[in-house]
Amino acid sequence: MFNNLLTLDEFTIQQLRLFPHATGELSGLLRGIGLAAKQVNVEVNKSALADILGAAGGVNVQGEVVQKLDVFANNAFINVLRSGINCAGIVSEENEELVVFDDIKSNQSKYVVLLDPIDGSGNIDINITIGSIFSIYRRVSELGKPATASDFLQPGVKQVAAGYIIYGSSTMLVYATKRGVNGFTLDTAIGEFYLSHPGMKTPDHGQYYSFDNCYYHQVDTKVKDYVDFCMSTTSNKNGPYSNRYYGCMVADVHRNLLKGGIFFYPQVTGKPNGKLRLCYECNPMAFITEVAGGRATDGSRRILDIQPQHIHQRSPLFIGSKEMMDDLERFMR
Ligand code: AHG
Ligand code: MN
Ligand code: MN
Repeated sequence: MFNNLLTLDEFTIQQLRLFPHATGELSGLLRGIGLAAKQVNVEVNKSALADILGAAGGVNVQGEVVQKLDVFANNAFINVLRSGINCAGIVSEENEELVVFDDIKSNQSKYVVLLDPIDGSGNIDINITIGSIFSIYRRVSELGKPATASDFLQPGVKQVAAGYIIYGSSTMLVYATKRGVNGFTLDTAIGEFYLSHPGMKTPDHGQYYSFDNCYYHQVDTKVKDYVDFCMSTTSNKNGPYSNRYYGCMVADVHRNLLKGGIFFYPQVTGKPNGKLRLCYECNPMAFITEVAGGRATDGSRRILDIQPQHIHQRSPLFIGSKEMMDDLERFMR
């Protein structure tokens, strides 16, 4: 059945051949991420049995209770990236500080990785879709020395690659480089990701809006008016849109990428910058969405142009199909 489908590895190597000077480091990095994703996938599937459901007890740097699976996934990604030789260090939602690998080989590698090991942690306990997010940058600090904060604090437009894993009814790994977005589905029997969604493009318009309606009375009037527009049958010539909200941005953005739609987590009362983290949630999803033909802003600025000041900073996020983002912008002006 899979005779004519490329594996993730075969695909990245094929891409590599297009660049005479490529070293294979990015390909190696993606192989590592794919391996960690498979380890997490196994754990996700047996989580109820393995007693890793529920809170691990600790509280992460964002002040949220850490779930056991978050810890497992964080360790899986860090271990794989640390034992490879293609990553100089990582930033993760689960680590307050940078994790710089600082050994002779790692200091030579030209990439750093930013991670949300488990996105949608609130879904773990109830056996609903969760994800992982990663973002890859070329270092700006001197090769041969340990990675520094400047390597991680680059605007999203500088990403070399970004991707997510969705642990859904099937497990998929989707990643983008400037050249395109490609989706791979895990064949669990063989243990390989196969290219199932080559050259993903998002529709210019869709029928879904993804917003946590509990915040309807806590958002700016402009956002409220836009939500009304989404539900309207009169002012919105394509409306009403269906509301779909998983509490897992990866799942919501993934659906909207495939079907067309818009996701937003704006500023709400008590959360002046929304909830989502710029560097390892907004930026990677914005990069993937833009390469697929969609757009992402914080309400006024293009997400990918924002210069991060802090590795864990939050940002409002509006992301999705081009024409739906155009409609939104008319409200945000
Ligand atoms: P994480 O599990 O990494 O903390 O992220 C969860 C995020 C995002 O994926 C989701 O859309 C949002 O939190 C849900 O938050 P609300 O419950 O406030 O809607
Ligand atoms: Mn998240
Ligand atoms: Mn998370």
